[in-house]
Amino acid sequence: MKQIAISPDLSLSNISYGVWRWSEEQTARAQQELVECCLEVGIDTFDHADLYNDYRNEALFGALLKNDPRLRSSIKIVTKCGIQLLSRSRPETRVKHYDYSPAHLRYSVDRSLKCLHTDYIDVLLLHRPSPLLNPDELAATLTDLVSSGKVRHVGVSNFTPAQFSLLQSRLHIPLRTNQIELNLLHPQPLTDGQVDFLYERSIPPMIWSPLAGGRIFRADAPLQGLRRMAEERGLGLDVLALAWLLAHPASFIPVLGTNQPERIRAAATAARVHLDLQDWFILYRDALGCDVP
Ligand SMILES: NC(=O)c1ccc[n+]([C@@H]2O[C@H](COP(=O)([O-])OP(=O)(O)OC[C@H]3O[C@@H](n4cnc5c(N)ncnc54)[C@H](OP(=O)(O)O)[C@@H]3O)[C@@H](O)[C@H]2O)c1
Repeated sequence: MKQIAISPDLSLSNISYGVWRWSEEQTARAQQELVECCLEVGIDTFDHADLYNDYRNEALFGALLKNDPRLRSSIKIVTKCGIQLLSRSRPETRVKHYDYSPAHLRYSVDRSLKCLHTDYIDVLLLHRPSPLLNPDELAATLTDLVSSGKVRHVGVSNFTPAQFSLLQSRLHIPLRTNQIELNLLHPQPLTDGQVDFLYERSIPPMIWSPLAGGRIFRADAPLQGLRRMAEERGLGLDVLALAWLLAHPASFIPVLGTNQPERIRAAATAARVHLDLQDWFILYRDALGCDVP
């Protein structure tokens, strides 16, 4: 699988894998199989967040790293911070909110490192923009975290171009990605300036819920062109929906969310699926719900 350089010293696999949907209902063996399957097909980038599965999934993944510390050098770890959920494990939280204070960021990074059984995070993302975000304070904290070696690179998620620019204007290290939602049921970032903003700066976007969280498979999803093309070409809807994203020239990095190894294997073939110009627009018409103007 192709690697996408997000900085001179770090590249991510063109498709990455997210652990949001992991839980204790799976066995550790099943989780290990998912990671092995990713590595087998060239997916070396794993997307986490402190809060997945009520703040427990980093530790589930970390248990695999603890058992096999050699794994760490073959993978890239992306994790996120900043969202404070109502959780039994955080009784002091009275309302869901965002916390980007220096103390919370340091706490969150230390906790992620401990849970993940690693001494560095490849890319730390600010999970969602906060209306109270203080770019000067945040820039200083992020710079300290990178200087300490705990975090190699920083980025954001779900930021508008204006929010990205504001933070970048105070930060002397580059933000390396913006992880955004983009799929056939949510194509707006292609036209609302999100993608253009990143492409102009040669910043590869990470794409969350590339299959709309599984909604593209539902019978009521209005994706006739996708269904027809899948039938004609003998390909899965997932493979075509990913090929549609990968065909974009701005180096999208979709983050897969399946818990099924065979679906990871199928997804990895998407990079080899050729969509010609009109194939791409047939799927885009599905996404828009009408012909382009
Ligand atoms: N930054 C953010 O704010 C943010 C927000 C949401 C997610 N994320 C990241 O993005 C990752 C991916 O998100 P996602 O899980 O929503 O991604 P997704 O790939 O769009 O959706 C995954 C869902 O689709 C189902 N699915 C996949 N292939 C299928 C198939 N062939 N037939 C039927 N169902 C299928 C999966 O079920 P099976 O497991 O049964 O295959 C799973 O429930 C997350 O793990 C997380 O790392 C980030």
